[in-house]
Amino acid sequence: MASYLELATAGVQKLTPYQPGKPVEELERELGISNSVKLASNENPLGPSPKAVEVIRRLAAGINFYPDGGGYALSQRIADEHGLKAGNITLGNGSNDILELVTRAYLTPQQSAVFSEHSFAVYPIVVQAVGARANVAKALPENHDTMPLGHDAQAMVDSIDADTRIIFIANPNNPTGTWLEPDVLEDMFRQIHDDVIIVLDLAYTEYMSRELRPPIKAWLEKYPNLVITQTFSKVYALAGLRIGYALSNPEIAGVLNRVRQPFNTNLLAQAAALASLDDRDHVLESVALNEQGKAFLQESFDLIGLQYLPSMGNFIAVNVKQDGLALYQKLLLEGVIVRPVANYAMPEYLRVTIGTADQNVRFVDALKKSL
Ligand SMILES: Cc1ncc(COP(=O)(O)O)c(C=O)c1O
Repeated sequence: MASYLELATAGVQKLTPYQPGKPVEELERELGISNSVKLASNENPLGPSPKAVEVIRRLAAGINFYPDGGGYALSQRIADEHGLKAGNITLGNGSNDILELVTRAYLTPQQSAVFSEHSFAVYPIVVQAVGARANVAKALPENHDTMPLGHDAQAMVDSIDADTRIIFIANPNNPTGTWLEPDVLEDMFRQIHDDVIIVLDLAYTEYMSRELRPPIKAWLEKYPNLVITQTFSKVYALAGLRIGYALSNPEIAGVLNRVRQPFNTNLLAQAAALASLDDRDHVLESVALNEQGKAFLQESFDLIGLQYLPSMGNFIAVNVKQDGLALYQKLLLEGVIVRPVANYAMPEYLRVTIGTADQNVRFVDALKKSL
């Protein structure tokens, strides 16, 4: 019989699949327990906006129809939010979909993409899937004063070579939570030739302090090679529906449109995203809950004597000073699921998503017991 692995393209043969956070149901089935807590996938613990839930209920009986393939209403609404046109928007089945579309459209096996060490796991996967080369830039050192393990802007720019077609910048970055200031980002953009697509991944941008958020419209006007990705999975709490988007110049949006599936975003997701944009209070409440939870977790780590990375996301990477995978397993036995990050070359760290006040207490108690 033929080897169907060997028949796969060279890039795919070398691919390591993405490891998602462990589902609650799986843990409870394995241990025969209930009431476990998942703080492993940077989901919003508040749940979705009631407005989104209501619209899903209302539209559920209409899912025999295909969605609007162009996502007209949602694209128009996102464009209005940013002072752009619908032609600047590409909708994706989660922002992961966009990352894949950009790579598929712009990267060949002869070319390369740049991203940082300790950055989002999907970048190496999408690059490997098309058989292209990854130029992985060294991150800042662990003993850096302000941004340990963060993106090193200059090292990233210096990793661009003649074959580079895409650079991925996560701001803030997952799993570190670290960030680059807008002027540092812009300094990078100025050094990057306009035939290199800059993917600025803003999945967690709503959790950032306002002064750190980029001037999106101005930057898109200035940098035609800029593709900004955003998602409804995090602060908008629609991770299970899979919807995200890109903001770019219309020519790039047109290219992404050529490679996407005709109905890549579903009917309920489009409508729920639209309803979520109308619920500013839900966003504010989510951000406030995250701030309180972050302060509580950071104080708890200080009291326990554990160091952690600065974070502008809805998660914290904490240095547990021991094998993170072993500690993760112990926490599972306490019914608490966090994320080991050995696959991000951070074997002594755990990444914990900031939960509700109760979930955070539950995690800290389990952590103290397991250390
Ligand atoms: C940095 C970053 N980018 C993109 C995503 C993708 O999110 P989604 O595909 O749910 O929009 C994530 C999800 O965890 C992320 O951490």
